[in-house]
Amino acid sequence: MNENIIPHNFSVSSKMREKLRGHPGLVLWFTGLSGSGKSTIAHALDLALYKQNIHTYILDGDNIRSRLNSDLGFSEADRNENIRRIAEVAALFADAGFICITAFISPFRRGRERARHLLPEGRFIEIYVNCPLATAEARDPKGLYKKARRGEIHEFTGIDSPFEEPVNPEITIDSSKLSVDEAVKHILSCLKKGQYGLS
Ligand code: ADX
Repeated sequence: MNENIIPHNFSVSSKMREKLRGHPGLVLWFTGLSGSGKSTIAHALDLALYKQNIHTYILDGDNIRSRLNSDLGFSEADRNENIRRIAEVAALFADAGFICITAFISPFRRGRERARHLLPEGRFIEIYVNCPLATAEARDPKGLYKKARRGEIHEFTGIDSPFEEPVNPEITIDSSKLSVDEAVKHILSCLKKGQYGLS
């Protein structure tokens, strides 16, 4: 860090913000292939938490990429920078006492681990939306797998760019077997069973 930059100490602490909101700040980090169902499940979970008076905010792939990260593409370096910025923003939301839900492919383990380490222990929950490539490709909601197979898009995750599976995610969802509702119920029950301070 530049020696002339001296961060200010907060007068309102994270603990004080949490007390005001009535629940802890967390990051729920979805990861998985394009077409795995990350965004669909993340948005349904967002609504379910909202209905329980929990303060959430969602950071979603294509939304962030069309604004904050519109300068980034899909090379490994750009994806790393994409995830670095998102991780920082998510950590700010959690510090502000929100449950921040992120839905990005985030294909590289190192980027996800860096995101985890921005949060205090137990505040980062990795949710792996596991879906066989063949299923995601058959769904192909945006027609991008077809374009990738035709060679019209390069460095497409699962086709000619890697996806590094999470080693020890807090929650795994098999989206080829569970419906969206079942996935949300499963995540909610894991959040309640875990020591995350949600009742
Ligand atoms: S990440 O790899 O940097 O985490 P991110 O989640 O932000 O990716 O964006 C993925 C979305 O961008 C996909 O769901 C898809 O709609 C679109 N996309 C466009 N080009 C690619 C590509 N080459 N690889 C993967 N996704 C792509």
